[in-house]
Amino acid sequence: MMPANALGALTPLAPQGGEPLYRQLYDRVRGSLAAGTLAPGDRVPSARALAKELGVARGTVELAYELLASEGYLLARGQAGTVINPALQFSAAAPSLAKERVQEPSAPSPAHDMLWRPPQLLPFQMGVPALDAFPRKIWARLGARYLRGMQTADLDYPPPHGLPALRSAIASYLQVARGIDCGAHQVFVTTGYRSSLQLAALALMHRGERAWVEDPGYPPTRQLLRESGLVPVPVPVDAQGLDVDRGIALAPDAKVVAVTPAHQSPLSMSLSLPRRQALLEWAGAQGAWVLEDDYDGEYRYVSRPLPALASLDRRGRVLYAGTFSKVLFPGIRLAYLVVPKAQVAAFERVGHIFFAAATPAITQAMVASFMAEGHFSRHIQRMRGLYADRRAATIAALERGLQGRLRAEPQPGGMHLVLRLPGERTDQSLASKLLAHGMAVQALSNGWSSGSTDSALLLSFTNCTTTAHAEQLGALIRQTL
Ligand SMILES: Cc1ncc(COP(=O)(O)O)c(C=O)c1O
Repeated sequence: MMPANALGALTPLAPQGGEPLYRQLYDRVRGSLAAGTLAPGDRVPSARALAKELGVARGTVELAYELLASEGYLLARGQAGTVINPALQFSAAAPSLAKERVQEPSAPSPAHDMLWRPPQLLPFQMGVPALDAFPRKIWARLGARYLRGMQTADLDYPPPHGLPALRSAIASYLQVARGIDCGAHQVFVTTGYRSSLQLAALALMHRGERAWVEDPGYPPTRQLLRESGLVPVPVPVDAQGLDVDRGIALAPDAKVVAVTPAHQSPLSMSLSLPRRQALLEWAGAQGAWVLEDDYDGEYRYVSRPLPALASLDRRGRVLYAGTFSKVLFPGIRLAYLVVPKAQVAAFERVGHIFFAAATPAITQAMVASFMAEGHFSRHIQRMRGLYADRRAATIAALERGLQGRLRAEPQPGGMHLVLRLPGERTDQSLASKLLAHGMAVQALSNGWSSGSTDSALLLSFTNCTTTAHAEQLGALIRQTL
């Protein structure tokens, strides 16, 4: 049970303060967590008891608890009461970071920001590969070898476009695995997809230009293009992926198209071949840049991975963005952009200024060895098998819990499932409720799409090591329908 004064219960809230009382209480809980006076698993007092102790209305405490639950800090456990989410972890080194977050007046939460992440990985969280399956022993060995062999010169700045060994390893891999014919000089190493997008914007894009973005689509793409001064134009997707004809009708003058051809983000269908050809033809005629975001193209379960859109590009219009976040792990902060030959000079120029290859040299060197020594291909192959198994087991368990009320949409690939819901925007309140049960399921209508009111839950299976959570999730959804 929580210590008696963990919420500063003896200190009354300040009724005259600028902050509403519920918000003060919310901040107090988060502050106590950051300070370590409240710990994951601690039971919090009932709203009635705490309201009495603090001399505030019960509704005030309930409001604060609801907000904390919607952000994953509190878990309602029925008869057992409400507890601080046991999955939360503030390590000894974390308080200052946690404090910073507490003091941030508009700290992001899933209710209004798609970029929000819980402090620790929760079941079904999107975009994270199987962290339990990464070959850490091999990784540690490569790290130790690099450190032992380090020369004085290795302490210097790494090359601004990436370590040559890494750029070559990426070019060789793309040739074999994604059908892209490119030289190492076309590969620009970055610290993540967003930094690749920023580099492309600096090198080739201009303020005021219109950019097609998929609708629904990956929110950071739309947001970053807007921050770079472009005007995003949402273009609908259907069963064949981005609707190219609609894009041409909506913004025929666009200069940029951001697209996820392998597995559309977040609905996971593939861009059909006729659409691929139509897009490249239009981009060639219009002089537009196609930014291919191939974040998880390797993970396909029904056939071999589809070749990248860039492999069909004969007119030098495609900028291919790859990342190591899904095929290795996201903490690595390593990605790359492959640019057409004719654009290499422009990227070299801005790359010197922007220094996009800011991932530490040791990490770049370790990945280069990991790839050159065959560990990378073996790891991806293993993950493909593992994900196929986890995906099938998660679907089966989810459907057991749902007892036939809904079915997960079969996807040819990707790292998450899509569960369509009846009604308009019913997904948002359901996702909030599920988060209060410690499940980081996302709502399609919340930030992913611009105009559509379609409802669906997005849930990753990659870290589902057991089926218990999926069955529980299915049952919780069934009870809510
Ligand atoms: C659609 C999409 N693109 C790109 C990325 C990769 O981003 P990063 O390289 O910053 O990890 C992600 C990660 O979740 C994604 O979902």
